[in-house]
This record gives sequence, structure tokens and C-alpha cells, in this order.
Amino acid sequence: MNMNAALAPAAGLSEWFPEEGEDRRARQALMRAEGVTRLFGPEKGCQDISFTLYPGEVLGLVGESGSGKSTLLSVLSGRTPPDRGRVHYRKDDSGWLDVYQAEEAVRRRLLRTEWGFVEQNPRDGLRMSVSAGANIGERLMAQGLRHYGQLRRTALDWLRQVEIDAARIDDAPQSFSGGMQQRLQIARNLVSSPRLVFMDEPTGGLDVSVQARILDLLRGLVRELGLSVILVTHDLAVARLLADRLLVMRRSRIVESGLTDQILDDPQHPYSQLLVSSVLQA
Ligand SMILES: Nc1ncnc2c1ncn2[C@@H]1O[C@H](COP(=O)(O)OP(=O)(O)O)[C@@H](O)[C@H]1O
Ligand SMILES: [Mg+2]
Repeated sequence: MNMNAALAPAAGLSEWFPEEGEDRRARQALMRAEGVTRLFGPEKGCQDISFTLYPGEVLGLVGESGSGKSTLLSVLSGRTPPDRGRVHYRKDDSGWLDVYQAEEAVRRRLLRTEWGFVEQNPRDGLRMSVSAGANIGERLMAQGLRHYGQLRRTALDWLRQVEIDAARIDDAPQSFSGGMQQRLQIARNLVSSPRLVFMDEPTGGLDVSVQARILDLLRGLVRELGLSVILVTHDLAVARLLADRLLVMRRSRIVESGLTDQILDDPQHPYSQLLVSSVLQA
């Protein structure tokens, strides 16, 4: 092999060693969906969805309301079994896991520890009547941390990171504004250093002024922590800001996928073109 070949980018490897190249990429991936289908009626839900997510990547699921984004996210995150297809997740040490072949307890543990899920409505993702500090500490306790002082220090640190006054640590989130609740939900999810975070319209229910601040915060955290994220949004401005790559969904199917800038600046599919021209968002 000459020097040029040896220095060829990784993508070129598969031309030289097709099997090894494929294998390497497969080993590096974090999640793979294969033909994932969950339908509530014709074109209602998601069907034939396949993609690969790599570590540190933010994948946006975009499309108009009702196109199946939340259904797909729910299947990917272990909450709704697919009618057909598979979801594979690569565990840190123990290799690939078929999410729906695994036992219920394994799936639940994933959701409490290695995965996070940020709901559109923070009330669905927080325990509203227990303190902010306890909301943050809960996932750490699920991972086995019991030391009170340490839990409290970590909670304080995360309140600071999501710009909530430390003095509110013992207050219940029901006394917080919507924006604060959403920031607390983000802290609650990120405190356990999840490897993969699912987000369903994380700023969808908030005032525009509050949205901007939370998006900024999310963008900073995603970069700083090198998070892998699957993000549902109907808002292309949110997709532009946060996502590296997009899947465009329409009536339960993917109609186009690619790099965010490519799709938003030069959409190929007529539906993506409509979406980008805002016709469908009015
Ligand atoms: N649990 C359910 N039972 C029946 N129909 C559902 C259910 N969840 C979603 N749907 C339907 O599936 C379609 C896709 O919904 P959804 O995944 O929520 O879309 P999106 O998140 O893109 O707005 C819609 O027509 C919706 O009414
Ligand atoms: Mg939805």
C-alpha cells in the first residue's frame, strides 16, 4: 500500500477493505434503526425508518404536525414497541443491544441512566411536588450515588449550569415559571451524563423570548458535553441551530435526509422545499 492509500480518509477504507470498513463504522455507531414501523392507521405513525446515529451527533426529526415524529421518537427511546423493525443501541461495554429484545427491566434502566428524555411539557418530565434538588438528584441515586452532601453539591452545580438561582434548590418546580421548569428538566436529564438524549419539541411550549435562551443553553451543553441527541422539532429554526443532520418526515415516511445546512439551503424533495419555504408552517 502506498502512502496516499494509507492516509486516505476513513470513508475510503471500505473501498480497500469493504468488510473491515463496514465493520468499523458499525462498531462506532451509537444507535441503528432498521425498518422501524409503528402505525395507528394508514400513514399515521412511522414506517420503514432506517438510519444510523453516531456518537456526538445531533439528529433532527422534522416535518409538519402529524407526520409521525413523536411516534418514531417514542419507538426509538424504548417507550413504544414497533410493529416491525428493530432498534439497536450500542452499550458502552457490552456491545449491541436489540432494544425490544431486551428485558423490560434493561430498557427501563437505560431510560433512567444512559438515556435522557426531555419532554415538550416539563410537567411530564419532572416530579412537580418534590424539590428542584431532588429532581436533579434522582437519576444519580438511580445510578447508586447515596452521599447526601455530594448529591446536593451536584444539584447546586447543575442549577448554576441551567441558570436557576441556587436559593431555589428546595423549592418545588410547581412554583417555577415554564422556562425555569424546562431548564430544570434539562438539568435532571443531563446530570447523569447520558450517552443519548431524546428531545420532543423541547422549546415548543414556551414564549419566543424564553425559547431563545433555552436554545442557547441547550446548544452550549450539547457542544460542551459532546451529547448525542435525537431531537424532534417542527421548527426549522430550532433544527438549524441544534441539528447536524436531519430526517424529513412526511405522512409517516422519511422523504429526505442529509446534513442540516444542505437540506435547509438546498432541499431536494418537493415536500422539503415546501417545508423550508414555510408554506406548511403557516
Ligand atoms: N396513541 C395513538 N393512537 C392513535 N393515533 C395516534 C397515536 N399517536 C399518534 N397517533 C397518530 O399518528 C399520527 C402521527 O402522530 P405524531 O407521531 O404525534 O406526529 P408528530 O409528532 O409529527 O406531530 C397522527 O395522525 C396521530 O394522530
Ligand atoms: Mg409530536
